[in-house]
Amino acid sequence: MRISVIGCGYLGAVHATCMAKLGHEVVGIDVDGAKVAALSSGRAPFYEPGLNDLLAETLGTGRLRFSTEISAAAGSAVHFVAVGTPQKRTENGADLSHVHASVEALIPHLRAGDVVVGKSTVPVGTARDLSKRIAEQCPSAALAWNPEFLREGFAVRDTLEPDRLVYGLDDTNSGARLILDEVYAQALAEGRPRLLMDYETAELVKVSANAFLATKISFINAMAEVCEATGADVSMLADAIGHDARIGRKFLNAGLGFGGGCLPKDIRAFMARAGELGADQALTFLREVDSINMRRRSRMVDLAREVCGGSLLGQRIAVLGLAFKPNSDDVRDSPALSVAAQLQLQGAAVTASDPEAVPNAMRRFPDLTYTESVEEAVQNADAVLVLTEWEHYRSLDPQFLKTLVRRPAIVDGRNCLDPVAWRDAGWTYRALGRPRAA
Ligand code: UGA
Repeated sequence: MRISVIGCGYLGAVHATCMAKLGHEVVGIDVDGAKVAALSSGRAPFYEPGLNDLLAETLGTGRLRFSTEISAAAGSAVHFVAVGTPQKRTENGADLSHVHASVEALIPHLRAGDVVVGKSTVPVGTARDLSKRIAEQCPSAALAWNPEFLREGFAVRDTLEPDRLVYGLDDTNSGARLILDEVYAQALAEGRPRLLMDYETAELVKVSANAFLATKISFINAMAEVCEATGADVSMLADAIGHDARIGRKFLNAGLGFGGGCLPKDIRAFMARAGELGADQALTFLREVDSINMRRRSRMVDLAREVCGGSLLGQRIAVLGLAFKPNSDDVRDSPALSVAAQLQLQGAAVTASDPEAVPNAMRRFPDLTYTESVEEAVQNADAVLVLTEWEHYRSLDPQFLKTLVRRPAIVDGRNCLDPVAWRDAGWTYRALGRPRAA
């Protein structure tokens, strides 16, 4: 099948590459020439495990190419729209300008029977509007809404082996459904669930899934606040409640909270859209989800101040982790980077390190001192803060690191270290939601 993917950011670049892996003939289109050049030479402009290898493989087959020209979409039967929908600058709603601009640019290249497939995360109602616009301009083309649920760090696997496929359709018996079935033939043959629904439900599935995940994280972080007030241990609590299959242990890791390019902006855009629809009361709880999440960052700064003896002024703080989560170089709305910047603003001298995210962090906050090496970061530190749970940090040797620091004090912002091992090695170990000492 001939496929175009419009927008080669995180979602689009992964989607285009994976579609080519499935045997389709794919063109990825983006207005950013540097991005297109990088992808064409087999280098993703962001870090995603496994993606560069897959890019090289699929470019090598000749089934994948990238272009800056929207006219390259002509001749494809399916056109995925995977452009960004960032938060508006001055309010909480989503900025849909890229979605509208790409659909308008695509319309002159559509042929009878083509299917435009929305992948971007959009406010409910967007697909219905776009389908009217396409019907006016090219009545024989169709629109489907097919939200994406991939996670950064697992993007290739999540795309090739989705846990469900959601098709939002104007008519569930339409040709668009058959074409999507052909695109996803492999996943369907593997028995992966395919759910057919109207546009509005499909759009809502995406944002409500992210809202639920954000709520789950803020729930456990709210429990962490209570644990801190009583001397209880939120990790033990999460393990214990997580054994109940109705609750489940996943997404119950208390710590610095959620960040990234999706969860924070999606819950805000969801609230804004509910407000426009007169259903704002239904989502007021998400405001609390957002505030609990932001409070974790201030609590982390407070804990750092505490282990530094009450003042951050002139203290040397080593920050381990800057990405919003491990296996990513993404620092968009990263709790780790925001804490690092706050500490520096409050007078600490921060040396920050991350295995992948240093270049992106440096662009956002040039004022911090950066290094990729843990050993350099912790040199003469008064406190060490673990803010992203990279696997590498879990296996750090507390005995060895103790020889490098000025004061052996560590704050575990992601509850990813073994408190006993660090305390036994003579460190002051503090963590969000866990008691001062065992
Ligand atoms: C999220 C969703 O998980 C994907 O299903 C969705 O497709 C994607 O957004 C999207 O809308 O595109 P992602 O942003 O890659 O994926 O990251 P998550 O794995 O969901 O993590 C989000 C944040 O929550 C991270 O900052 C992570 O550290 C934090 N988190 C996660 C916790 O604080 N505790 C947990 O238990 C789990």
